[in-house]
Amino acid sequence: MKEKLQAIREEAIKKMEESDALDKLNEIRVAYLGKKGKLTEVMKGMKDVAAEERPKVGQLVNDTRKALEEKLEEIKNELAAAAREAKMKEEVIDVTLPAKKNNVGHRHPNTIALEDVENIFVGMGYEVVEGPEIEYDYYNFEALNIPANHPAKDEQDTFYINDKIVLRTQTSPVQVRVMEKGKLPIRVIAPGRVFRSDEVDATHSPSFHQIEGLVIDKNITFADLKGTLAEFAKEMFGENTKVKFRPHHFPFTEPSAEMDMTCFKCGGKGCRMCKGSGWIEILGCGMVHPKVLKMSGIDPEEYTGFAFGIGLERITLLKYEIDDMRLLYENDTRFLRQF
Ligand code: DAH
Repeated sequence: MKEKLQAIREEAIKKMEESDALDKLNEIRVAYLGKKGKLTEVMKGMKDVAAEERPKVGQLVNDTRKALEEKLEEIKNELAAAAREAKMKEEVIDVTLPAKKNNVGHRHPNTIALEDVENIFVGMGYEVVEGPEIEYDYYNFEALNIPANHPAKDEQDTFYINDKIVLRTQTSPVQVRVMEKGKLPIRVIAPGRVFRSDEVDATHSPSFHQIEGLVIDKNITFADLKGTLAEFAKEMFGENTKVKFRPHHFPFTEPSAEMDMTCFKCGGKGCRMCKGSGWIEILGCGMVHPKVLKMSGIDPEEYTGFAFGIGLERITLLKYEIDDMRLLYENDTRFLRQF
């Protein structure tokens, strides 16, 4: 019996030491210490042991059980520690890896170009003002000397809210709102969104932006207009930029002109950018029509002034050499990030 116990003890310990997982260890526990285990089996043989030997053998069985339980606990702890260690290794964080870049927003190229334009005019003493996008027909058309039968008033061009209210088709109505206030002299630019009933394509959009300019004072002449806008073109597109004025027609200015500048890409030689002509049209302008001054309460005998209208998208597309206006409205961050 003694030898049997010794053999069981050695065999069990050997198996425990060989086991490499907690569930295998449990199988060993059941096989040796469980109800039907080998040790229990040996205990059943006690009835054949001589009465005086029983306490000694009983003690031996208990010692064996205790030794096996202790060993079991020891191996169990070792395996648990190893498992913990392995898990820690697997979950280790490499703090030297580069951080993920956070995708934050970006300023729109229109915004950047507008700020450039604003800075130039603010530097010349202009104030930046704004007017409503939903506008009275009176301010958008009538007060600007655009008569009722003018083609610009056609529903094909203008979004009407009702017969008195429109989505402004230009920023020029802000001129009227500023003049009506009666504070003279005036030197303002008025950037903002305008609306026209146009189909979307590479050069058109039903909603775009203009920057209006207005100067009213005593003795303002066409020479002031020319000097101001020539300076603007130089600051915006480079010191070597030259400008020329072509006669044009706008109902609210007389005389009226369109201003072209030498192509900033080829310097005037002719290239793809300027379609070979060496010149690029950039704005409309003119001397404020006496009728417009009078309607807004300004005496045209005492005051004169000039006005201009710049298409912001046109400036942005030129400045960044973008060939499709639709890119400006998609707000795809992969596009916007480049500016
Ligand atoms: N409002 C004009 C347009 O939308 C642009 C313009 C031209 C504005 C000449 C002006 C100007 O103030 O003097 O086409």
